[in-house]
Amino acid sequence: MESLAWLGGRLRILDQTRLPREEVTLDLNTVGAVAEAIRSLRVRGAPAIGVAAAYGVVLAALDAETQEVRAFLARLDAAIAELAATRPTAVNLFWALERMRRAAHGRAEAGADVAALRAALVQEAQAIQAEDEECCRRIGRYGAALLADGARVLTHCNAGALATAGIGTALAPIRVAVGQGKRVVVYADETRPLLQGARLTAWELARDGIPVTVLADSMAGTLMARRMVDCVIVGADRIAANGDVANKIGTYPLAILAREHGLPFYVAAPTSTIDLSLPSGEHIPIEERDPAEVTHLAGVPVAPEGIGVFNPAFDVTPHRYITAIITERGVVRAPYAAGLRRLCGPGE
Ligand code: MRU
Repeated sequence: MESLAWLGGRLRILDQTRLPREEVTLDLNTVGAVAEAIRSLRVRGAPAIGVAAAYGVVLAALDAETQEVRAFLARLDAAIAELAATRPTAVNLFWALERMRRAAHGRAEAGADVAALRAALVQEAQAIQAEDEECCRRIGRYGAALLADGARVLTHCNAGALATAGIGTALAPIRVAVGQGKRVVVYADETRPLLQGARLTAWELARDGIPVTVLADSMAGTLMARRMVDCVIVGADRIAANGDVANKIGTYPLAILAREHGLPFYVAAPTSTIDLSLPSGEHIPIEERDPAEVTHLAGVPVAPEGIGVFNPAFDVTPHRYITAIITERGVVRAPYAAGLRRLCGPGE
């Protein structure tokens, strides 16, 4: 199962808005189509958004008819701005776009022509994709060491293969542990309002034969109180320098519940999700989405017409509730400021 694939000249994605009822792929061949797909969550999850955006820049590069380097770079910068305006919270988007911008501008300064710039951009996007696959594998190996045979894991939203170019972030330790012969069962929060847990996490784990049970978000406290779960693992959209974590709305209350019940609360994310430029979580921009996501379920109204709606797509979990952050470079524990700096420092 691939969330996205570069077919040379077009980006094929699995349309996640149609899952689990239909497995429909879409071939995107313009930067506008990629921007729309990111905005409407056809492709979603922080690392997958970054990879898709990188290919969006490639599509703009292939589309640009000019042979003049300055005009070509101006087209690229416009495409990067269009993609950057799609979703504000997942920092992987901006990280990937910056890599693409640097790949083009750096080589242009060194005298590359438009054909060489196009080739360099394809190469950079493919490198971002391949690195993400490897990050997932490594997160899986580090995280699996934290899971005992028989572990019962609660997760939120979808931080699996669908959300990355590889085996996922939060779901990677589970997949690797199962591959090692451990028995692991997963509880998947449905994740209102858009049900990424019920629709996507349940779908991809069931496909892999990993036992998964779906629960409504409001049932997590009872799951813990009845001692039916051993730990929580979630993904992240952005991790501030002090270890505060922005992730799908509903993550923060889970962390508090985990603390109350004495359960480890793990965050799994590649270092491309770490944003050392922000001192703490209160600086992370939080996306507010369409009120209809709350007032409607699968297009059917479930609230009075015209009612006020609160719909932040993400929340921030303060670092004090986080037991460890699992990255491709190792597992970081408090004090996070020093640990994250070391992880992302020069020479790493
Ligand atoms: O709005 P979404 O579905 O893109 O939100 C996704 C999440 O919150 C994930 O947990 C996060 O991006 C990590 S994905 C590996």
